[in-house]
Amino acid sequence: MDALKKKVLVARRAPDDVLAKLAVHFEVDYHPGEMPLTPDELRTRLQGKAGAYVTGTERITAELLDACPGLKTVCTMSVGYNHIDLAACTARGVLVTNTPDVLTETTADLGFALLMATARRMSEGERLLRDGGWKSWSWDFLAGQDVYGTTLGILGMGRIGQAIARRGRFGFGMQVAYHNRSRLAADAEAELGARYLGKDELLRQADHLVLVLPYSAESHHCIAAAELALMKPTATLINIARGGIVDEDALAAALREKRIAAAGLDVFEGEPRVNPVLLGLPNIVLTPHIGSATMPTRIAMATLAADNLIAALTGTTPPTPLNPQVLPA
Ligand code: DGY
Repeated sequence: MDALKKKVLVARRAPDDVLAKLAVHFEVDYHPGEMPLTPDELRTRLQGKAGAYVTGTERITAELLDACPGLKTVCTMSVGYNHIDLAACTARGVLVTNTPDVLTETTADLGFALLMATARRMSEGERLLRDGGWKSWSWDFLAGQDVYGTTLGILGMGRIGQAIARRGRFGFGMQVAYHNRSRLAADAEAELGARYLGKDELLRQADHLVLVLPYSAESHHCIAAAELALMKPTATLINIARGGIVDEDALAAALREKRIAAAGLDVFEGEPRVNPVLLGLPNIVLTPHIGSATMPTRIAMATLAADNLIAALTGTTPPTPLNPQVLPA
């Protein structure tokens, strides 16, 4: 043990190379378990730590920060940071970093895969086949929705939204429409062939609506009964952002009553618990929060989180800070 080394907590399993890199700089307290630490365990393990390497499963609250006054930086291996009270961190001078960019294309791939699987009823078809239900061919057997040439609606046009738009426009001849807090620059819209619409109009026009917006109090249940009622009965809804954006009971009702055709969800409110009403529906594709889950991307995310942690605690500017205002001028 090196008394001069700062202490950090690595709160979730991480690649060996990343742990080795961190061990060069820090005394590492490593939690290798499959399950996250409980909030109490997290608080205990963070005592005396200058830095924390976390993922989306560790909640960093104002109370936790107050109980861990030595904590200088929180580096999350995720692009989303709704599990971290950023304002509380900033108020206490705690630097927060995330892992944008390295997962953009991989997450857009999953979003598009989910769109395709949902529109073409692939999970339903596989279940039927495995259950011995495939008896013959008929004209409307598992007939789904077209993707090529249809209107792709994107709610939340950040990096991942734009990567999905490129797939839709250049790969599938789709008309891209979007809604976002702020409108893209004219040249970015022109490159993507993207039309900016009000949220309600986007819901009305989209054949496939992909949710890629950040989760916040403002976006909580921003797709609920009223919004679903605006969508076409042939439309699909894809959520790869955060579960809390969609009112799952309202979605289940819309799917059951065929008020929209189908949904594809990679994220769930209260995950890993999945609302049982969703599990019973045929016209839904469910995946367990695997948007960024390819080995190269996960290694890139872990490496970036470690690089952020090293920079933050060795006096250099981290590659991807969320609150750079706490850095010394
Ligand atoms: C992210 O990076 O935010 C993914 O959702 C994984 O947590």
